Amino acid sequence: MDERDNRPIGIFDSGVGGLTVLQALIRQFPNESFIYLGDTARVPYGSKSARTIERYTIQVAQALLNRSVKLLVVACNTASALGLTALRRYCPTPAIGVIEPGCRLAAATSQQGRIGVIATRSTIASQAYRQTLADLDSRFEVHSLACPLFVPLVEEGWHDHPATRLVVESSLQPLQHSGIDTLILGCTHYPLLRPVIQEVIGPTVRLIDSASAVAATLANLPTNLLHRAAPDAVQSVTFLVTDVADRFREVAHHFLHHQVAVDQVEMIDL
Ligand code: DGL
Repeated sequence: MDERDNRPIGIFDSGVGGLTVLQALIRQFPNESFIYLGDTARVPYGSKSARTIERYTIQVAQALLNRSVKLLVVACNTASALGLTALRRYCPTPAIGVIEPGCRLAAATSQQGRIGVIATRSTIASQAYRQTLADLDSRFEVHSLACPLFVPLVEEGWHDHPATRLVVESSLQPLQHSGIDTLILGCTHYPLLRPVIQEVIGPTVRLIDSASAVAATLANLPTNLLHRAAPDAVQSVTFLVTDVADRFREVAHHFLHHQVAVDQVEMIDL
């Protein structure tokens, strides 16, 4: 018999970026509950060392495990690239990252096999995207580019600020003549800059955002990894942050397109 499990799904990012993934999951699974943790005291992760990111990933995951989540979604490319292997070794609860789902979607989308990847410095340096794409098809031509200025712009809520356009134009310059037909937004913050990225890179390049790919991965998880909530379970969404809850609520509003109530956000120490 199909067992039901109404415990929440835990999802985390260094800050607000993972809310792009949360939003897709809330829509796709209307009776699942979620606890989202944004490590806002230590954002950004993307400029930190592999060792530090691994440590942060385990600490954040542990805080969610303490709340008895049934599945962990690492909604951060940097933590997926550098912390997921250690996390899977550390805890028996299943953990899903964002890199493989994003790569699969890009592989299915690209017509010519020329794929760009933009991400944080640490994600690019880890070669996780290059490796995962090569494992899917060794003929892919991969163009990787770190865009370290994008995360602070998004955390600041500057999605359509004129300065953002200048930063995007100059950051994406190295990809302009690369011939890519698909561009992976390899950081969960970047979908918030999607309109300006699309304008700058041109209309013929398909942008890949891992949020819907992660939702599809969860929908297809076998029941030994995920027991779904009962069909009549009522969805609840709780937010945990490691610093300044009010600021988080303000920025979260842009991501989720609705207000986050004061009592939905709790500040915690890791
Ligand atoms: N949103 C995260 C990612 O997907 C990390 C951004 C950061 O903390 O640098 O990589």
